[in-house]
Amino acid sequence: MTVAASDALRPAAALRGSLTVPSDKSISHRALICAALANGKSRISLREPGEDVWSTIGALNSLGASLSAVRDGNAVVIEVAGGGSPGAIAQLGPGIADCGNSGTSMRLLTGVAASGSGQATLVGDESLSRRPMARVAEPLRQMGAEIVLTNGRAPIIVRGRRPLRPAHVELQVASAQLVGAMSFAALAANGTTSVTVPGVVRDHTERMLRALGTDIQRSTDTDGLSTITINGPSALRSFDIHVPGDFSSASAWLIAGALHADAAITIDDVGLNPTRTALVKVLQAMGARVRLNEVYSDDTGEPIGAIHVRGGEPLKAVTLTGTDIAPLIDELPLLAVAMAGADGTSVVRGAGELRVKESDRISAIGAAMTSAGAHFEELPDGWRIRRGTPQDAQITTHGDHRIAMALAVAAWAGVARSVELDDPDCVAVSYPSFWSDARSIGALA
Ligand code: S3P
Repeated sequence: MTVAASDALRPAAALRGSLTVPSDKSISHRALICAALANGKSRISLREPGEDVWSTIGALNSLGASLSAVRDGNAVVIEVAGGGSPGAIAQLGPGIADCGNSGTSMRLLTGVAASGSGQATLVGDESLSRRPMARVAEPLRQMGAEIVLTNGRAPIIVRGRRPLRPAHVELQVASAQLVGAMSFAALAANGTTSVTVPGVVRDHTERMLRALGTDIQRSTDTDGLSTITINGPSALRSFDIHVPGDFSSASAWLIAGALHADAAITIDDVGLNPTRTALVKVLQAMGARVRLNEVYSDDTGEPIGAIHVRGGEPLKAVTLTGTDIAPLIDELPLLAVAMAGADGTSVVRGAGELRVKESDRISAIGAAMTSAGAHFEELPDGWRIRRGTPQDAQITTHGDHRIAMALAVAAWAGVARSVELDDPDCVAVSYPSFWSDARSIGALA
């Protein structure tokens, strides 16, 4: 089922049930890339992949990889021929790769193409073409990569060359996409590359590369500065995995459940990587009843399990700053909704990165929450927010999936009196089954 732009979303009577969410987007991108670079045939099982993941599949094929998709119920099995030979990783390119709306596809593939064969051109949609790309080109150039940007943005032209030089790079932004791009490039460099990051970012690249045979380590100092070291060159072995649910998609139900007076929701088969689950601690600090139940770790070292949330507890305000931000980066629009349903004034600072996501998420969530009735003060790098009187809100999503889902949750949880989204279909970027899952727990009549 879908929701039309003219459909008003309204407070739900109750939110109850169990569901699964689409496979983790971050892990999916990395698994697809690793499989294309590996020696031998891999198999990746994805539950309900969103448009961003399809962008990576299409882009890899455009660069000469061989990925095919077969539907199996609500899963899609991707078979990847693998292009590496024993002792070496594949070279991708030449070609023109369309990354759609997906910043992660574009930045990771820039790192891959840097050591590719021939010229790769990476393009994206209107939103992606506005996003900053010097942050990925600069550190890769320190490894000898040849990259041409268009006014600091996409289209990106990468002229592949091998071997790249190992380098010691200090990133200016705490971005897992950049760590991923550098790590993929470092697979084809002779020697040790190190990447220092101002914060703790998701570590899926490291877990996966380590499991596939690369010598890659992370250390974090007491100030929260992380250093990732990669010893190249490194070949990757082929693999067969099922990618668990995406914690960031599950977060919609956590916030909805935490805010609603009559809610009991379980999300099964979700990735519980501790660099992703910071939201659970924040919600617990706000007074919510949220519980993780880790069941097992998969072959790539990713912890997997269930999350349970129950509603009915009053939430209290919270302040998030500095190193709190990177591990919550995709959950902050949803957290704005939780904050608008809490007692007291909540504050977010140090989140300027939100301005260069799929939309300027500080101003987009500000306009949306104000229209929903909350008191929202926009700051250069965050916001102050407190509860107001719920209103009938007409929301401009800017085509941003996370703004759309956050405001749907605001309606179901009663933070808004009703919500109309200008583009409900944009949820498919990460979560194509969002509306049918909403119906399954009673959010939609
Ligand atoms: C991602 C990293 C994050 C996140 C994005 C996915 C990844 O971006 O916002 O949705 O898979 O590496 P940054 O780490 O660049 O902030």
